Amino acid sequence: MGKYYVTTPIYYPSDNLHIGHAYTTVVADALARYHRLLGDDVYFLTGTDEHGQKIQRRAEEAGKTPQAFVDEIVDNIKALWKLLEISNDDFIRTTESRHAERVQKIFQRLYDQGDIYKSEYEGLYCTPCEAFWLERQLVDGKCPDCGRPVEKVREESYFFRLSKYADRLMAHIEANPDFIQPVSRKNEMINNFLRPGLEDLCVSRTTFSWGIPVPFDQKHVIYVWLDALSNYITALGYPDETDAGSLFARFWPADLHLVGKEIVRFHTIIWPIILMALDLPLPKQVFGHGWLVLDGGKMSKSKGNVIDPVVLVEKYGLDAIRYYLLREVPFGADGVYSEEALVLRINTDLANDLGNLLHRSLSMVEKFAGGVVPAPGTYGPLEEALMTEANHTLEKVQNHMDKLEISDALAAIFALIGRANKYIDEAAPWSLNKQGNRERLGTVLYTMVEVIRLSAVLLTPFLVETPARIFAQLGLDTDPTAQGLVAGSKWGQYPAGTKVRKGEPLFPRIDWEKESCAEKEKPAPVPQPPQKATPPAVEPEQITIEEFAKIHLRVATVLAAEKIEGADKLLRLQVRLGNEERQIVAGIARYYRPEELVGKQIVVVANLKPAKLRGVLSQGMILAADDGDKLALVVPEKTMADGAEVR
Ligand code: MSP
Repeated sequence: MGKYYVTTPIYYPSDNLHIGHAYTTVVADALARYHRLLGDDVYFLTGTDEHGQKIQRRAEEAGKTPQAFVDEIVDNIKALWKLLEISNDDFIRTTESRHAERVQKIFQRLYDQGDIYKSEYEGLYCTPCEAFWLERQLVDGKCPDCGRPVEKVREESYFFRLSKYADRLMAHIEANPDFIQPVSRKNEMINNFLRPGLEDLCVSRTTFSWGIPVPFDQKHVIYVWLDALSNYITALGYPDETDAGSLFARFWPADLHLVGKEIVRFHTIIWPIILMALDLPLPKQVFGHGWLVLDGGKMSKSKGNVIDPVVLVEKYGLDAIRYYLLREVPFGADGVYSEEALVLRINTDLANDLGNLLHRSLSMVEKFAGGVVPAPGTYGPLEEALMTEANHTLEKVQNHMDKLEISDALAAIFALIGRANKYIDEAAPWSLNKQGNRERLGTVLYTMVEVIRLSAVLLTPFLVETPARIFAQLGLDTDPTAQGLVAGSKWGQYPAGTKVRKGEPLFPRIDWEKESCAEKEKPAPVPQPPQKATPPAVEPEQITIEEFAKIHLRVATVLAAEKIEGADKLLRLQVRLGNEERQIVAGIARYYRPEELVGKQIVVVANLKPAKLRGVLSQGMILAADDGDKLALVVPEKTMADGAEVR
């Protein structure tokens, strides 16, 4: 047992939040609940990042003061977390005085010790990302993160000496392999930002006013990222309350900052350097997860393709949504959101596997034992096998959760549930009943009920309503998770002689045909890994130049590459394609090692419909020649701009 401090990014209240934001927060919530059930001293922080030029502009457009503008959206965000039963211990708003005053003290200290100095900034700024860029970092003259135009700014500014700490940061990253995860993101930080060299960072602005004033120079407001990143310590009381017994002493350093991939840079370069300058320990881990995308692109209000979690919860129920978010996408990779996939998860995993297991088991307890669960007799080989699997499932869940493989942790629990369904078929209680074999029947019925109880205990960190509904139907009056996850998931705790209370099905099946009238779509073609060369049986059909022109081939640079666990042919590539970054799954693992690919330029089919390979989103396909023995990537013969067309 230890302590566990987990944070989400603090969200911009520039609009109501969508399912992508809910995704990060639900993951953080599952981790917090899991660690609480292990007996850890947990602190779970979330909040809102309310200052900056973007919010000021959005408020102006809405004809409101920035404060009134954010207050309204923050209320909606808090209501959303309540709806999703997020168990955060605190919610910090950067406009609260407890935060603003502490940020001023941090700024003052960095200035007093010479880490912040005054100069003039002339350069580029992306307002939607609130990020400064150098000319050489732009892609096609646009922001490399969001692809939108940048603005030229020239103003007196305070600067933070990032460059002074660059070597120390590099040494820290190298000495602590878990600091930046997944490893592809770590490589990206080293290759794209640290190796080319860090410039000092502009940390104040004078051309707008919606921010925390620099304490000794009121015409400046503090740069919104310095303001925002500090929330992770101001919320704990730093620098005012740091004595033994304070939240800060109890929880800092953070065990985990969960962040989306586009803000890993702020959390693994700027934030650690601020902490080094303040002489504070660094967070143990920053995990950069992928995005939930829609139709191949990021969700955004401006594209009009956001999915509202409130609507989904109303339509399908809270646990169905939580389950989908936690189970569907391997945490770390990008994933495609689709309502059809959500319904499939509900129908197969929740309604069929889990719901049916409970329903059929309780029906049999009612039919064969008058609704009272008998005491088990001697366990036979079938029970022994199931018990062994049940006892191993906790271990599997723990292994996966330690590595933030949330989806795999749930898969392990559902493997047990699947096994339990199979056990019923094998043990055939209906035959035992017919034969009048009461002792064996008692053992089987008890085993069925106990494996359900145990599975529900294991599901408790992830689902917030279902475990309690299951315990109630099992007739349990005391909460089996009260003793924690480890004690609660030990075999044999279901009190024999209990009367069950069969209720409504946990998850009614959903008729997707009916639900989907509006959105009948053919499934996406799956990009195939290169196949062995076989001469075509017939002459290939000729196509016109117009038909060929439909295929958009583009040059891209591989930013990161890694193996996909459990798929020995596949690599997951992160590539830069013009203004955007994409994830591509390619069947080339037998021919190329991941490290050989990083930095290489390749050719990709850019307008292929996104598809999933082994659950991992692929947003395109790479070109390679295949002669049956060897495989060779198609590469431009000289370096080209990323995104260049191939014709
Ligand atoms: N305010 C900054 C974070 C400051 S932390 C000190 C910010 N806010 S944000 O509202 O734009 O994004 C917050 C988080 O939501 C980011 O981690 C981002 O990656 C995540 N997501 C936004 N859209 C998302 C998806 N479509 N899918 C998954 N996560 C998404 O950045």
